[in-house]
This record gives sequence, C-alpha cells and structure tokens, in this order.
Amino acid sequence: MCGIIGYTGSNCVKDILLDALSLLEYRGYDSAGIAVNEEEKKKTEIFKCAGRVSDLKAICDTKQITATCGIGHTRWATHGGVNDGNAHPHQQGKVTLVHNGIIENYRELIADYDLQDVLRSETDSEVVAALLNHFYQGNPGEAIRKTVSKLKGTFAFVILFEDQPGVIYSIRNVSPIVATICKEGAMLASDLTALCRFTNEYFVVPEYHILELHKDCILLTDLQGQKVEPQMLSVDWELNSAGKNGYPFYMEKEMMEQPDAIRRTIEGRIMNGLPDFTGDGVPDELFTNCERICVVACGTAMHAGLVAQALVKSMVHVPMEVELASEFMYSDPVIDEKTLVIAVSQSGETIDTLEALRYAKRQGAKCLSIINVKGSSIARESDYVLYTSAGPEIAVASTKAYTTQLSVFHLVVAKMAMLRGAYTEKQAKAFVQELQRVPEVLETILEQRKDIHVIAKKILEAKDLFMIGRGLDYSILLEGSLKLKEVSYIHSEAYASGELKHGPIALITRNTPVVAAVTQEKIMSKELSNIKEVKSRGADIVLFIKKALAGDLHQEYQLIELPDMQDVFMVFPTSVALQLLAYYVSSDKGFDVDKPRNLAKVVTVE
Ligand code: F6R
Repeated sequence: MCGIIGYTGSNCVKDILLDALSLLEYRGYDSAGIAVNEEEKKKTEIFKCAGRVSDLKAICDTKQITATCGIGHTRWATHGGVNDGNAHPHQQGKVTLVHNGIIENYRELIADYDLQDVLRSETDSEVVAALLNHFYQGNPGEAIRKTVSKLKGTFAFVILFEDQPGVIYSIRNVSPIVATICKEGAMLASDLTALCRFTNEYFVVPEYHILELHKDCILLTDLQGQKVEPQMLSVDWELNSAGKNGYPFYMEKEMMEQPDAIRRTIEGRIMNGLPDFTGDGVPDELFTNCERICVVACGTAMHAGLVAQALVKSMVHVPMEVELASEFMYSDPVIDEKTLVIAVSQSGETIDTLEALRYAKRQGAKCLSIINVKGSSIARESDYVLYTSAGPEIAVASTKAYTTQLSVFHLVVAKMAMLRGAYTEKQAKAFVQELQRVPEVLETILEQRKDIHVIAKKILEAKDLFMIGRGLDYSILLEGSLKLKEVSYIHSEAYASGELKHGPIALITRNTPVVAAVTQEKIMSKELSNIKEVKSRGADIVLFIKKALAGDLHQEYQLIELPDMQDVFMVFPTSVALQLLAYYVSSDKGFDVDKPRNLAKVVTVE
C-alpha cells in the first residue's frame, strides 16, 4: 500500500513525480505529497495535502518548481487520520522521507530517543525521520544503518538529506521498491507501473540494502558497505496497456481485456493439446509427489483457489484446502514436505500471502505461486512460478487477474488429473480444448453487457442483496458478491443455496434483490427448489443461467443467459457477468469505480 516515486536527473521533477503518483494512486488515495530538492536554494521543499493527486497537482501548479530531484507519495492511512499533517513526505531537520509499511515499535522509539516534542504528525513514519535526523552526522549510509537496526516492522523508505543535493537514498524490508536508470535519469518506485513509461529494464532493490540514486548512476551496497550489482529484469508491459485506452474506468478496460489476457496466459502452456509447464520450469513431480494441496491467498485470489478446490476434489481426488493467508500461520496448519502449497496473488506483494508462503517453506512444503507481477516478492520467494499474463491491473477491484488465475488453475488441474491417472490423455485433451474456447465465449458475454446494465439499474437503490448458488456456482458468487460490495457499497452476501433455510432466509423480505447462479446441470433441480423458496418469500430474483439450462424459466424469472460451456468452465462467463453487474451499479451510482473507499490495490500491511 502507499505509492512511492523518486527521481533525480536532468528533467523538471515536478511533472515526473505528479504523473507517476497518478499512476500509483491505486495503491492508496487518502493523501498525496512531494518533496523537491532545490539545489540552488539548498533546501528541500514539501507540498502535500489530504485528498487525491489531483488536489496536490492543483497546489503544485501555483508554485514555481524547477528542481530536478525529488520524491513523492500517495498514502493509504495506517497510523494517524487522513489530514494534511499526516500526509507524506515528513521532514525532521535535514531529513525528508516517504514511507510505505508499518513501524511496530514506534512508541518505544519515541520514548527511547525522547522524540515526543519534535513530532508534528501522528504517523509512525515521522518517528523514523526524526530518528534518522538524530543519527545523521553528514554520512547518510551510517545514519540509515543505525536507524534500521532499531526498527521493527516493514518498510520502504525513500529519503532526501538536505545537504546531499541531487541524491536519493532508499532502504526496504518486505515492502517493495524497484529502481532503474535510463536516459532521463535515475528513478525508483513502489511498483513498475510508474517506471514502465520510461524503460522496460529495472531491478528489485534487495531487502536491507542501501540504494543511492545519483543523476547519472545508481549505487547499491549491503549493510557492510560492500557494493552489490543490481540484478536487472525486464518487463513486457507496454505503456498503453497501463492507460485507460478510451474507457471511462480502468475496471471496464480490464474487464474487456479478459479474452486476450486468458489467451496470452494459456498459450505456450499447451503442447500437442495437453497442459505443459516445461517453459515455466515446473517439473511433473511437483504434482505427483504431493499428498495434499493447500492454497494460501487473500480476497479475490483466494476465491480463485476455491474454484480450484472444487475442481481438484471432483477431478483429481486429492485433499485440498484453501486458507485465508491472513489466518494461515496463526492456525497451526498441518504443512509438511508432502504438501504442495500454492500461493495466489495478482500483485505478488500481499504481505499476508508472503508471510504464509514463508511459513509453509519453513515447514518444508514445496511452494508454487500463481502471480501476475513479474519479479514480485512472492514470485521471487516461491520454488516455482506460473505467471498470469493479465498485464497491469490498475483498478482496485480485480477482474482480469482473477479470470487468468482461473485459467492457470484449470491447466494445473488437468495436468494433475492426467499425471495421477484420474484422466486419460484423451480426457485431458478434451478439457484443454474447452479451455481454449474460453476467450471467445467471454467475448460473447462482453458483447451482451447492455443486458447486464439493465439489471444493474434495478438494484441501484438496494441496501442489501443476496447471491445464492450451489457447488461451483457458490464459489463464483462469493467473488461476485465481493466485487459488488467493494465497488457499489451495497451490502451483499453470497450463500450456498442449501444453507438458506438454516438461518439466512430470515433476511429475505418482499423485494429483496437476489442474484441466483444456475450453471451446474447436476444440481440444477435442487438449486431451482431453493430459488423457489426465496421467491415464495417475495424476493426479487435474477437468474444468471447457462443458456442450455434456461428452458422456459423466462416465464417465471428475469434471466441473464450465459453462453454454454461444459459445466466446470461456466465459472468464466458467470464471473465476467457478475463483474459487469458490479461495475455498472458502481458507475451508475456515480462512484469512482477504480478507487473504492478505504481500499488500496496492493496490501502490504498485515
Ligand atoms: C478484490 C481484490 C482483493 C485482492 C486481495 C489480494 O477485488 O482485488 O481482494 O484480491 O487484496 O491481492 P493480491 O492478489 O494482489 O494478493
């Protein structure tokens, strides 16, 4: 969480920082600020405010800023409310910094170094600025080393020292920082989105290493002062794939990109009609040697795991659990060297998932991750990685990352089923063939989006909404319900239809909107009985139904007919239809769809 940018070079820094902050705003949008190093004035000036980057831009536009070195921050509040004073950067004496992460022992530091009287904000970050200033005697490296040795918690700091003009310092623990040097100068950021408009080459700053950005060079040293060569990586994202491409919101653009994103993700992993992970370096033994599987993930990524769990149970017959990463290691899970742990994450930086992965590795488990952002922390720390090729996902609500995760899981399940003898080669081929149809099927549902918009208009005023389904439909509705609540602020809950009568049906009153999914033929009749039960209590029902199952149900219910696929693939069109529903409700209500309140795209605090 929190977006960070730093630049030193020959160009005017103001526009570079503000443009980058707009791109990074999805990481946090409570407040924004920049600090610029005015070499001639020999001082560091700060401009910051509570609110959006556009508010900061309005402030900066009234100032004459000519500096060519500076740092910027967009905040997701953790310690201290949302106000101008708590906005970053923070300045103490000669030190100005921005921070992403949480310093857990900030109270002890205030007491131990008697900092109470100098602090002007309620943030843990300013305490570190004060501590750095306390240790600073003209040698930045020494002050940084002494300071970080006192810190407990996670951090990415980007620091300016007033008497070191044109130089930016950085150090991190867990929270990410990537850096690069290109013809415009040297720069760093909390993530690649801010850098890829300048270059495709970058490196991930290793933990507990001091990074120095000079106008024409980058210096990386370990805490003993030894020079370290940065390990350069390259990214294949293009600038235009990080823009809105004419759509009003990133969420819409990203939903529309799903067919291509899935094509890119599965192609290259299918050889002679069968799943093949040779190009990813994932050996078959990973899938044959394990006795159980455990998925660790959060939010939408965890919901992708639930779909995989249903598939693995029915197709491969291997025990599989899906754990909320934030709960995982505190629940003493049974994990050993016979467990295959699969971490799923769009960003690859979610700290709960990263910590769960580290825990699993300590227990001897083999770890595979399904990740969208190349070179991210979880990817780096996993034994094996299967990247999704969704491209940059900017909207806070995840869409294309989810469906590409599902597509990877479908390949993994087919591979496992075949390797473990549950599927013949012929069955696996037929399964893969159906997966290859997914992109064109999604194109059909995306073309049908006007019909879903009509349904969305009917629920704009709803306070509560329920989603009901069985089996795979229930797993998809959990995600559909999360999507709706996070972008539309309608209270939405998904229930397994059979559970309704055990309590939740008490919530159904006249005109309560209920979205029911019916895509699984073998449980359809049971599902329809449950739908009748809520209809009898006056609920206003919309069925998202597989076309082949619709029959004459339109006489009784409002229907959204979903293009036909084999049942286990219906997760794809159903998910996209539910994403569209959430999107239209939010945009019709006039909300900032891409930046729902209180949320951030990358969650790097526990
Ligand atoms: C919801 C959403 C979140 C993320 C969750 C995990 O739309 O995006 O629930 O899925 O925060 O994030 P990643 O996948 O980056 O680990």
